[in-house]
Amino acid sequence: MTEVTLVEVGPRDGLQNEKAPVPTGAKIRFIEALAGAGIRRIEATAFVSPKAIPQLADSTAVLLGIARKEGVTYSALVPNEKGYDAAKVAGADEVAVFTAASETFNQRNIHASIEESFARFLPVFERARADGVPVRGYVSTAIVCPYEGRVEPRIVASLARRLLDLGCREVSLGDTIGKAVPPDVRRLLDACRAEGILDRVAGHFHDTWGFAVANTLAAFEAGVRVFDASAGGLGGCPFAPGAGGNVATEDLVALFDALGIRTGIDLGAVVSAASAMETHLGRAVGGRAAQAYKAACTRNGG
Ligand code: COA
Ligand code: ZN
Repeated sequence: MTEVTLVEVGPRDGLQNEKAPVPTGAKIRFIEALAGAGIRRIEATAFVSPKAIPQLADSTAVLLGIARKEGVTYSALVPNEKGYDAAKVAGADEVAVFTAASETFNQRNIHASIEESFARFLPVFERARADGVPVRGYVSTAIVCPYEGRVEPRIVASLARRLLDLGCREVSLGDTIGKAVPPDVRRLLDACRAEGILDRVAGHFHDTWGFAVANTLAAFEAGVRVFDASAGGLGGCPFAPGAGGNVATEDLVALFDALGIRTGIDLGAVVSAASAMETHLGRAVGGRAAQAYKAACTRNGG
């Protein structure tokens, strides 16, 4: 049976953009519930400047507080060596570094050019190699930049190759503002194939315009087997005006279930994990599949 891996980014990419302050205990229970649902890769938090992202200022307490489940990788986003140090002390199993394919977005997000962002990663790669900690890479604005418009697929593929050459195990290509459509995804993945890196890229689609499931399927058909998603479709991006949340984990689990492709994740358990966050966020969460699932449960009296 064909398998795909879903990387849960709700506790990081999701919560970093939620306005309501979520108590640390609720974040910990959210992560534990997601692991309980069968998710095996969870980006739990970020070790970034608390001034830039106050929502994730409790990253150490979150990572240390999780009752860890065997076989689950708990990773953390780090922008620089300072972040790496803190993530290591808190016991992150993996770290993720991030850059963007457009200069303006990088400046707004991390106050650095693309070149400067690589310079900041070098010590992270060195330290991680010495410690045996795997590193994941992100390239944001991989298709459209909110400030500069369309991005050349060639540029994205070559940045991803650079990250892989430096030591990333995988590079996640982000449609940060959720404007991409399947032909864009195919063009980007053609460029990755030409670079010889297609088997090491992941899809990271935001659902701002409702295209994320279509984009996921296009990427799957092109050969991608790892996708990022956020339970409840939480989030957005504080540095990308108008960006909606990540594609809901529930939507991808339901899609792959319907296609007979294994994720190892229980849809109902993800729906419950996301629903438990609603009181903290002060709003209803969940994508289309969560609504359909809840409606079916009501019909069945469950
Ligand atoms: N963790 C915590 N604090 C950090 C840090 C880290 N990894 N890296 C830097 N800082 C602190 C510094 O100590 C300094 O604090 P101070 O003002 O109290 O002295 C402040 O952040 C600025 O540090 P500096 O090295 O000058 O960095 P900067 O202003 O160029 O900011 C980043 C760079 C990357 C640290 C910052 O922009 C950031 O954390 N951005 C978050 C981006 C993000 O997560 N975006 C969403 C994901 S795509
Ligand atoms: Zn994202």
